[in-house]
Amino acid sequence: IFLETKNLIVWVKDPGMGNFYRSAHELCYVFKVSAGDHTSNIALGRRNRSNVWRYPGANTFRKGRMQDLADHPTVKNRKMCADAILDVTRPGDIVFDGFAGAGTTLVACAMTGRRGRGIELDPKYADVILRRLAEQTGCEPMLDDGTPLSQVASSRAGEVA
Ligand SMILES: C[S@@+](CC[C@H](N)C(=O)[O-])C[C@H]1O[C@@H](n2cnc3c(N)ncnc32)[C@H](O)[C@@H]1O
Repeated sequence: IFLETKNLIVWVKDPGMGNFYRSAHELCYVFKVSAGDHTSNIALGRRNRSNVWRYPGANTFRKGRMQDLADHPTVKNRKMCADAILDVTRPGDIVFDGFAGAGTTLVACAMTGRRGRGIELDPKYADVILRRLAEQTGCEPMLDDGTPLSQVASSRAGEVA
């Protein structure tokens, strides 16, 4: 699927779980997926970025931590996702997250003026995504038939509990 590995990023965060060394980093591969020039807003000197990223993880003590952990076990840092989007896309671009989870990528798209597209397999997390998008962007999520999510949210929560 991928033509080229562009870089390997190390996300440094507070230690999480682990029964030997507790894990304090995650690896993020940057791939190129099609021919032609890649988009980089870093190479142009507009953004000063390295391949070591330091952002709080889900386990870092901060406002909203407990809600984040209740929403999804691997919720990501939205500033980190927004910075990654700003590095390699242009305003109005479509950004796709095929494993949308807690919807952090989609929230980051709203923060950066990109068009987010996502797929989430688990209905429980799909509704978490819609609720977080509504809270963080002020938009009103709607079903295909035009019904506002707020009208059916509690009955849907009962279905997937
Ligand atoms: C590690 S989480 C993703 C975190 C997310 N990218 C974020 O920024 O918050 C992975 C998610 O992928 C979902 N998933 C697993 N298999 C899937 C599939 N085949 N299609 C869509 N989503 C899937 C899981 O339910 C889980 O919520």
